[in-house]
Amino acid sequence: MMTMNSHKPVMVREVLQLLRPQPGEVFVDATVGLGGHSVEIAPRLVPGGWLVGIDRDPRALEVASRRLQQFSGAMRVTLVHADFRDLPQVLSARGLEGVDGILYDLGVSSMQLDSAERGFSFRFDAPLDMRMDPSAAGITAAEIVNRWSEMELRRLIQEYGEEPAAARIAHAIVQNRPIFTTQQLASLVAKAVGRRGGRIHPATRTFQALRIAVNRELEGLQEAIEQSIDCLLPGGRIVVLTYHSLEARAVKRAFQRLSGKCICASRTLECQCGAKRLIHVLTPHALKPDAEEVARNPRSRSAQCRAAERLADV
Ligand SMILES: C[S@@+](CC[C@H](N)C(=O)[O-])C[C@H]1O[C@@H](n2cnc3c(N)ncnc32)[C@H](O)[C@@H]1O
Repeated sequence: MMTMNSHKPVMVREVLQLLRPQPGEVFVDATVGLGGHSVEIAPRLVPGGWLVGIDRDPRALEVASRRLQQFSGAMRVTLVHADFRDLPQVLSARGLEGVDGILYDLGVSSMQLDSAERGFSFRFDAPLDMRMDPSAAGITAAEIVNRWSEMELRRLIQEYGEEPAAARIAHAIVQNRPIFTTQQLASLVAKAVGRRGGRIHPATRTFQALRIAVNRELEGLQEAIEQSIDCLLPGGRIVVLTYHSLEARAVKRAFQRLSGKCICASRTLECQCGAKRLIHVLTPHALKPDAEEVARNPRSRSAQCRAAERLADV
C-alpha cells in the first residue's frame, strides 16, 4: 500500500535552484506524478501564476489534484491527462504560447512501483501488466513475454535493460512460457542469471526493459525534449531528471543539438542534424543527488539532473 510518506521527490533543492520559479510565472510539470515537485514549485508561483501538470497515469493525477488543491485560490492549477509528447497541443489548447519553466522527472513513480496489482515490481506477486496508463489499449508486459520471439526478447533485454545475460534470460523465458506473474518471471530470471553479488535483484534490468517497451518510454524522447524547448519563452528554463543511461543519452543529444553542437556521426562530412543554437546548457556535467539524499531515498541513487535556459530569440 502506497502512502505519501513513501514518496520522496528527487533532487528538489537542485530542481528549484535551476528552475527559479517566480510569482506570476507559468510552469509545466510534464510528469506531475504524485505532485511531489509541483507542491514545491506551486507556492513560488503565487500570486497569479499558473501550473500545468501532465501525466499519462489517471491515478497519479487524482493524487496530484488532491495535493495541489490548496493552491487553487491563489493561482491557476490545471492537470491534464496526456502524453508529454503532446506538450505543444496541451499548451495551445489552453491559449499558452510559451512558458517560463518545464520539469521532466522521467520514468516510473513510487506509486506505480508500490501498487502491487500494477505489475511493475517483482517485490509483489501480480499479473505482468506495467502499463502507466491502464486506460489506454496498449500492450502489457505479459503479452511481450509470451508472444515475442527469443531473438526479439534478447534484443529488448539487451538494449533497454543493458543486461549482459540477455541471451540466457530470453532463452529461459521462451522455454518456460506461458508466464503470467511478476514472481514467476523474477524467479525464472534469477535462475537463468545465477546469483550475483551486489545490491540489485537479478531481475531488475529485465523488468526495466519490459517497462520501457510497454510504455514506449524512449520512443521520441529526444524529440519531446527538443519540442518542449520550443515551448519556452526567452530566458525560460527546462530541467530533466533521468534514471538510466538510455534516457540520459536522449536528453544529452537534445541539449547538444539545440546548443548548436552537431550530433551527426563523425563520418558525415556535411551536418545533417540541423543543430541550431537555441539554449545555453546550465549543467555542463549532470548533477547527482548528494550522499545524504541517497541514504534518505535510495530510489534517487541513479538520478541525473540536467538543465538548460532558452536564449533570447536568435
Ligand atoms: C518519476 S514519476 C514523477 C514523480 C513526480 N515528480 C513527483 O515527485 O511526484 C514519473 C511520472 O511520469 C509519468 N510519465 C511517464 N512517461 C510519461 C509520458 N510520456 N507522458 C506523460 N506522463 C508520463 C508517469 O506516469 C509517472 O507518474
